[in-house]
Amino acid sequence: TKLLILFGGVSSEHEVSRVSASSILTHINGEKYEIYTVGITKEGNWFLTSSPAVRIGDGSWEQDPANKNVALSLDRASRGLVVLEDTEAVKKISIDVVFPVLHGRNGEDGRMQGLLQIAGLPFVGSDTISSAASMDKAITKVMVEEAGGISQADAVLIYHQRYTKDPYGELLGITSYFNDTYPLFVKPANAGSSVGISKVKNAEELPKALETAFAEDDKVLVEEAITGREIEVAVLGNEEPEASCIGEIFAANEFYDYNAKYENDASKTAVVTDLDPKKEQEIKDTAVKIYRIMGCRGLARVDFFLKDSGRVVFNEINTLPGFTNISMYPQLWEASGIPYPDLIDRLIELALE
Ligand code: DAL
Ligand code: MG
Repeated sequence: TKLLILFGGVSSEHEVSRVSASSILTHINGEKYEIYTVGITKEGNWFLTSSPAVRIGDGSWEQDPANKNVALSLDRASRGLVVLEDTEAVKKISIDVVFPVLHGRNGEDGRMQGLLQIAGLPFVGSDTISSAASMDKAITKVMVEEAGGISQADAVLIYHQRYTKDPYGELLGITSYFNDTYPLFVKPANAGSSVGISKVKNAEELPKALETAFAEDDKVLVEEAITGREIEVAVLGNEEPEASCIGEIFAANEFYDYNAKYENDASKTAVVTDLDPKKEQEIKDTAVKIYRIMGCRGLARVDFFLKDSGRVVFNEINTLPGFTNISMYPQLWEASGIPYPDLIDRLIELALE
């Protein structure tokens, strides 16, 4: 099987993607595939690279003189990659399946999926519309709400253009909606790894938090803060998706922000073992239900809060969750009996189904 692994990308999660790809390349059953690895720089240039996994992880792969500029062929008759030399196509490489190890914008939000669909290439994960809807926290919220029976944080949507025109009016709208109750979370509708997210403790902190979020997206959610345990479920499958055991996050910072996720060793993750079996089943069933509502394929990680009252509150879904060594998705399947290399095989099988 000729497998194309894409990493990097024009995304605020470019670095996370590099580490995910490095980890996948380290764990993959290498003898099973003819692997082609293509890195997309932050500027959006595509290079076929044979740099080792560590150099992909640390970013130095970009300096590898053996890298070859490539483009995706959109011509169905020559599905795969075209190797370029001085913008001339010099060679074609046919591809059977793509694993887009990309996170966030331009990778997880349906754009790359659309490109791959047009190129006629099967790929790991959800299609264009499911990826786009799952990436956008505002759209996800509406779809999950519409399905009924799933708790979510109360939120208001703020648009950049309207905010720029009338910041006072918009700020007043937010404070009156939440009855001056804090803390609140301010989140870009489309971003991942907590990039652009702030926890706001009073009205004075709102404008700066909104600016931070608007740097990522013109659409921003202001959300009530939910207190509870942060739990996550990995889902795997197409028509009959299955849920992994439940994982828990112990964030080193005040919330599980970018630093707490990737830079602070004090953050810990664990498999949850103290819940009663009924509650555990409820959480897994809810994860699968959300996966189906969003029309996902292949994989997704579904994140929740578990309140002291026992109420399960849906937080968000990630259609291309992190695959770093500390990431929950592969860890949860490992704990559920699927070793990392087999998980990659399974994802590729699901892409070809
Ligand atoms: N967005 C990051 C990669 C995650 O969900 O794991
Ligand atoms: Mg996310």
